[in-house]
Amino acid sequence: MSSHSDIRRATVPGLTARKGGEPIVALTSYHAHTAAIVDKYADFILVGDSLGMVMHGMESTVGVPLDLMIMHGKAVVRGTRRALIVVDMPFGTYEESPAAAFRNAARVMKETQCGAVKIEGGARMAETVRFLTERGIPVMAHIGLTPQSSHVMGGFRTQGRDEADWPLHEADAKAVAEAGAFAVVLEGMVEPLAARITGQIGIPTIGIGASATCDGQILVLEDMLGLNPRPPKFVRVYGRLGAAIEQAVSDYATDVRQRAFPGEDQVYR
Ligand code: KIV
Repeated sequence: MSSHSDIRRATVPGLTARKGGEPIVALTSYHAHTAAIVDKYADFILVGDSLGMVMHGMESTVGVPLDLMIMHGKAVVRGTRRALIVVDMPFGTYEESPAAAFRNAARVMKETQCGAVKIEGGARMAETVRFLTERGIPVMAHIGLTPQSSHVMGGFRTQGRDEADWPLHEADAKAVAEAGAFAVVLEGMVEPLAARITGQIGIPTIGIGASATCDGQILVLEDMLGLNPRPPKFVRVYGRLGAAIEQAVSDYATDVRQRAFPGEDQVYR
């Protein structure tokens, strides 16, 4: 756990200044212990609403409540001291009006002590991005494949396969950048489109399934650790945690069945 004196976090302007420079490293985390490990290497940590699926077994992010984001946001802030912590605004908490978005985002900032929020949507959310930013709430935007709109989009499809759609995505990126977003996530986007957007706007692009042409990359931690039995195709799996946990649980079950509790000898004798 961090004490105030040893907390020195990456800042929003510091992150924006990385545009075109050293690639930005980002991961999701929902949990104090994993966040403490990620904190040593990541520039920012996203408490993503993907936690609905990863932590709570939901089918999509649509059902994630604000209180759940706040609970996990607090855990991640408590477990970290150097990364910028960004908390996702869940579906239904920011789309209705800029004022409603401000009310809910201010709650997230106050209760979690995070450094910024993320909202999905491009041109249609630009007014809200501006409203929040002008009132002291830094906003990371999220365009391309936006999972909260998956019911409208007809699933989780890579965006920009048809070149005719590129101008819309480019307009989204420009609109959120002009409205004051400090960075933008490009999710599920073909490489040439991600490269064009990255070259057209003055804020960092953070790719997820959007190629190495972006200014940084984010992955869902559990996907890259090998905990998801069906990770998205673009994810490089760096760990085999699912298999390691299974082996450990199986060894434990064997010990218990044999009444062999190594390590407890010193406690009970
Ligand atoms: O919710 C999430 O984890 C995200 C990332 C996939 C960018 O939004």
